[in-house]
Amino acid sequence: MPGAPPSQRYRVVPFEARHDRDAFNCGVEALDRYLKHHATQDARRNIATVFVAEHTTLGVLHGFYTLSMASVLLDRLPAALAKKMPRYPTVPAVRLGRLAVHVDARGGGLGAHLLMDAMARSLESEVAWAAFLVDAKDTTARFFYGRFGFQSLADDANHLFVMRATIEPLFSRP
Ligand SMILES: CC(C)(COP(=O)(O)OP(=O)(O)OC[C@H]1O[C@@H](n2cnc3c(N)ncnc32)[C@H](O)[C@@H]1OP(=O)(O)O)[C@@H](O)C(=O)NCCC(=O)NCCS
Repeated sequence: MPGAPPSQRYRVVPFEARHDRDAFNCGVEALDRYLKHHATQDARRNIATVFVAEHTTLGVLHGFYTLSMASVLLDRLPAALAKKMPRYPTVPAVRLGRLAVHVDARGGGLGAHLLMDAMARSLESEVAWAAFLVDAKDTTARFFYGRFGFQSLADDANHLFVMRATIEPLFSRP
């Protein structure tokens, strides 16, 4: 289905032992290694939930992301925003720790689709969170997240956030 939107080309499902990840190549060795050697253990130990994008017809993995509950120190948010939050030391959050797309699937909207999928799943959770955090591994990744409205935390440009209040209206059903 070339040209079809990623939602038709891919199934985004929890990572399982049956998934063959040997051929996964996102161009970043550390992320490939994570999927091949550490994802199973992280999932089993409840360190991160790992979701993969399975191509609906080819069956191959073309992307993955990880989600965990997290928190962020109130002081790390921009001062103007922190002022509006209750004076607890930390703000509950969800962290998208890793996000990667296979080099063969780049530029086709899968990265954006996985980011939206992660946000939608997080919004469906009954566990409270107020900020959505992402870890960008470098400046290029930072630009990618910047396109979706993420801002850097006060003390670390590669750790970015967007507030739940900003994204929730975009996902609410009429
Ligand atoms: C970053 C990454 C996930 C993007 O995946 P992708 O499937 O190629 O991205 P998409 O096709 O969904 O692009 C969505 C939008 O972001 C833009 N974009 C993609 N990569 C970008 C980048 N590195 N910098 C800025 N914008 C970028 C696209 O142009 C597109 O914009 P448009 O909708 O206006 O056309 C992918 O390149 C990747 O896996 N890189 C290696 C790992 C990595 O850097 N992960 C990031 C977190 S550590």
